[in-house]
Amino acid sequence: MGFGFATRVVEEGSARFLAPEIGDVSAAHIDHLLSRAPVFYNPRMKLNRDVAVLALQVYQRRLGRRLVVCEPMCGTGVRGIRLAREVEGVERIVMGDLNPLAARLASYNVEFNALSDRVVVRNLDVNLLLALHSGPGRRFDYIDLDPFGSPVYYLDSAVRALRSGGLLAVTATDMAPLCGVHPRACLRKYGGSPLHSEYCHEVALRLLIGALASIAARHEKAVEIAFSHSTDHYVRAYAVLEHGSQGASRSLEEMGYILHCPRCLNRRTAHRIRDVGDGACDECGGPMAVAGPLWLGPLSEASFCEEMIEEAERRGLRRGRLMRLLRLIRSEAGYPPTFFDVDKVAELLGLPSLPTDGLIRVLRRGGYRASRTHFHPRGVKTDAPVGAVKEALRELWSEQQEGGRR
Ligand SMILES: C[S@@+](CC[C@H](N)C(=O)[O-])C[C@H]1O[C@@H](n2cnc3c(N)ncnc32)[C@H](O)[C@@H]1O
Ligand SMILES: [Zn+2]
Repeated sequence: MGFGFATRVVEEGSARFLAPEIGDVSAAHIDHLLSRAPVFYNPRMKLNRDVAVLALQVYQRRLGRRLVVCEPMCGTGVRGIRLAREVEGVERIVMGDLNPLAARLASYNVEFNALSDRVVVRNLDVNLLLALHSGPGRRFDYIDLDPFGSPVYYLDSAVRALRSGGLLAVTATDMAPLCGVHPRACLRKYGGSPLHSEYCHEVALRLLIGALASIAARHEKAVEIAFSHSTDHYVRAYAVLEHGSQGASRSLEEMGYILHCPRCLNRRTAHRIRDVGDGACDECGGPMAVAGPLWLGPLSEASFCEEMIEEAERRGLRRGRLMRLLRLIRSEAGYPPTFFDVDKVAELLGLPSLPTDGLIRVLRRGGYRASRTHFHPRGVKTDAPVGAVKEALRELWSEQQEGGRR
């Protein structure tokens, strides 16, 4: 079949499909090649799709019935095809793409994977496609929003086209605004101020979820985060949206601000604007930077992570990047917002580099909870205040020196 551009056969998960031939995909210039391709396919997003397969399977099993799914920005169709083939209990998928070349290629790939009886592809704008499904009886159980850049232009439509109790997965790749490089763009798009700090990716995820929660609340829908992650150049959240004004109000109570002191690394949260106070650090008196409003609630549900791990193991996975990610996210579920970067704290104290696991051990010995975090290789999530973290690091340093002298 001629598409007017060169194609190649690609295999990912259980899908075999055609993608544009983009030449040498060495890491150095893959972004440039991808941006020029007639239809978008990024092999580096495989992990994102692997996670989607597991999350949807866990969600389907919890619901215990067959699902109707929408992937309104499908590119080659790989994601929807994988969901149809790899997730048990998917009854029907509606895929879409505004790019006619993508819609045509995705339709071909659907046929190539023998899925024409369960999967349709529409050449429509995402908001239009979702609007067509926003009435009772036409809504979806799962919507997967995977745009270039920010998903905020489509959140309203997605919320309206999701059944009560449905799962919405959303990716944001516009990390420059979300991580504080373009704060005004972040405020415009997400309605909150970002924070340029060592934990900016966590703040980015909280801004994305915060934007979703406030849009959902306008439609009287509560938001619960089953799973979320920050990987490579994007953040991604899986939110269950339940209809009900009381739940929606409770979700809004999870919104608030993160205050960060760049001088002493103290941080605190405030649920109401009046709790932000004068913005002075209660440790050193210096001015604190304020991020938000954003989501201060849970970023993942431990039991959902556990079920995703069990599902991955059932599929023969034991190790690798995906399993490491899932295990880390399970271990950090339930911790308060933000984390400490061991190197940043050590540098502030004039100490040399110290091991992350060592800090975790000393904090736990002191009666605090502490865990590694998937957000940062040197990050520690804990309920200990900054003073206790500094104390623990000094203790670790003395232990190491004593160990060295022995
Ligand atoms: C990041 S790609 C999607 C990749 C795909 N979900 C995957 O996993 O491989 C974003 C897609 O959205 C499509 N797109 C951009 N704006 C759109 C719009 N307003 N409506 C529908 N599709 C759109 C693009 O043509 C592109 O194929
Ligand atoms: Zn301070």
